[in-house]
Amino acid sequence: MALPPAFLDELRVRTPLHGLIGRRTRLARNGRQWKGCCPFHNEKTPSFYVYDDHFHCFGCGAHGDAITFLMRAEGATFPEAVERLAAETGMQVPKPTPQAAARERRARDLHGVLAAAEAAYRRRLFLPEGRPALDYLRRRGLSDETIARFGLGWSGEGRGALAAELKSDGIEPPQLVAAGLMKQRDPDRPEAGQGAQYSDMFFGRVMFPIRDRRGRTISFGGRILGDGQPKYVNGPETELFRKRQGLYGLDLAREGAFRGAPVLVVEGYMDVIALHQAGFAGAVAPLGTALTSEQLELLWQLSPEPVLCFDGDAAGARAAARAAETALPLLTAERSLKLAALSGGEDPDTLLQKGGPRAFQPVLDGARTLSAALFDLLAEGRPRQTPEQRAALRGRLEEAARAIPDRVLSGEYRRTLLDRFWEETRRAAPGPGRRGGGAPWAGRPAAFRIMARPAVDSDAIRRERARNLLAILVRHPLLLPEVEEALMSLDLPAGEAEGLRAAMLAWLGTAEPLDSAALTGHLAQCGMGNAVTWATRATGLCAAAQPTAQPKEALDGWWHFFGLLRGEADLVQDLADAQRQLTETYDPAAQQRLIRLKRALDALRRGETESDPDEAAEGEPGEGPQASRASTIG
Ligand code: UTP
Ligand code: MN
Repeated sequence: MALPPAFLDELRVRTPLHGLIGRRTRLARNGRQWKGCCPFHNEKTPSFYVYDDHFHCFGCGAHGDAITFLMRAEGATFPEAVERLAAETGMQVPKPTPQAAARERRARDLHGVLAAAEAAYRRRLFLPEGRPALDYLRRRGLSDETIARFGLGWSGEGRGALAAELKSDGIEPPQLVAAGLMKQRDPDRPEAGQGAQYSDMFFGRVMFPIRDRRGRTISFGGRILGDGQPKYVNGPETELFRKRQGLYGLDLAREGAFRGAPVLVVEGYMDVIALHQAGFAGAVAPLGTALTSEQLELLWQLSPEPVLCFDGDAAGARAAARAAETALPLLTAERSLKLAALSGGEDPDTLLQKGGPRAFQPVLDGARTLSAALFDLLAEGRPRQTPEQRAALRGRLEEAARAIPDRVLSGEYRRTLLDRFWEETRRAAPGPGRRGGGAPWAGRPAAFRIMARPAVDSDAIRRERARNLLAILVRHPLLLPEVEEALMSLDLPAGEAEGLRAAMLAWLGTAEPLDSAALTGHLAQCGMGNAVTWATRATGLCAAAQPTAQPKEALDGWWHFFGLLRGEADLVQDLADAQRQLTETYDPAAQQRLIRLKRALDALRRGETESDPDEAAEGEPGEGPQASRASTIG
């Protein structure tokens, strides 16, 4: 039984080869590929390599794909191996129906039709009729070698010339329609004459063959010479061509990536070609649509972190944001993206025209990880002056983090995004007492912060305060949502305190019941058990951090330590922000916050130092003067 080649291709694409082989022999990552001891001969030092679509042993020469691996390793027959892989990937092995056989024949025919058309277009480019097109490509800096490598051609002027030429190969107009090269005229509006029943899809255009991952032409894009609309036309969807499932340049980029070139997604066909010519052999482009999840899967087979490089204009920024949002639900610790920024309306092609490879390399080197770039992509052009605007932005950031299915990764993204959010909105908030002028994002003068920090604020005292503040949260995680913003704004001592805060905030993004047992369990799991022990050491712990403390008691205690850690200058600023927020929204939560901040500030100004380690060390846990003082604040 002959299975359709498209099915087998899909099966191979959907089978992560290193996973399949990794079950039989231990594999370790080795750059872009995996490496291990060959399962087919006896060896002690690994010479067996697994690539995205095949394996190869440099010791015994064993070589093949997922199907042949199963056949060799388990003695499976071809149909058995296919059946097993299909079951694992959730695919249905097609039944050998007459229709399927016909479809397969047609697909084989279509490849033949497209190959014949490509040959005709390529030939025309070098005929006198193709001269303007050839001159155009050369003017754009393409060498004859590049033109040949990408199979560029000239469509001719249309009027059935292609059909006439291919007739001698036995190719009829209906096949050209199926291949996406001609269209059938509307039968209700018959034109005069027989030959007018079909018309050319492409005429007066430079032809760009679009190839599948194995290098077979599956459609064409056509560019008009010079200016004019539409600038590019792509072939329609056919049995072979699915815009959402291919990438321009993929066949060449696979080769490039294999040899170590970074995998790079750009917007235009001309960008791909110019990049390859300049030595960036991993460049690809989507096929006239936004980047799809299928295309991302293809990219991740080549590289764990492909670089998106969209044009330096508003449309490019939108395309990058959309691509990032498409990627979020698919991210794992091993599959991410980088984003490279072009500026000033440049695209990779224009940049290379101006400055050659040396002008583009810095763009690539400056690519940021998705986690670092995501905030800018999501916040770009969104105002954050009013509480409503900030709430909308914050909602958008949280939604983005929630889109990541991996819980740990989602928590980390949430924290990274919200950290940036607090940082920016805090600096952006125009508090009283600060003079206007300057950029809206400009920070407070650094000198002010330093002056306001009391000299007695020794490291030991700060550590002890931070410990109490965090212990309260370990025991009463229900408070987390309410104090999250304030918690993020604190300058905590490095080490356990910072680590604990980060882990708790990350957990908050995904936690279901906000209870202490779940939190400590989670913290122990991510290696923070020692930090928890440190934070909850009984000696010197305030009453608010006791499991038996009432929520209100715990919350008041928390704000008390917050005030001490935050320092007077920042508290005054926080207070002003809260005041402003209250007058803008009359939000009861803002009012609560205002009251607490006021109390924290008053306590601070009265010079309360009840959390100092010296005094604290004398008190019994949950009792004693300092503990009861902390619990009665507010
Ligand atoms: P660009 O206009 O950025 O392409 O469109 P480009 O490669 O830079 O074009 P030139 O030749 O240098 O001027 C990016 C991509 O969007 C699709 C094509 O896939 C193009 O490569 N597109 C663009 C269309 O499908 N139709 C159009 O009319 C324009
Ligand atoms: Mn361009």
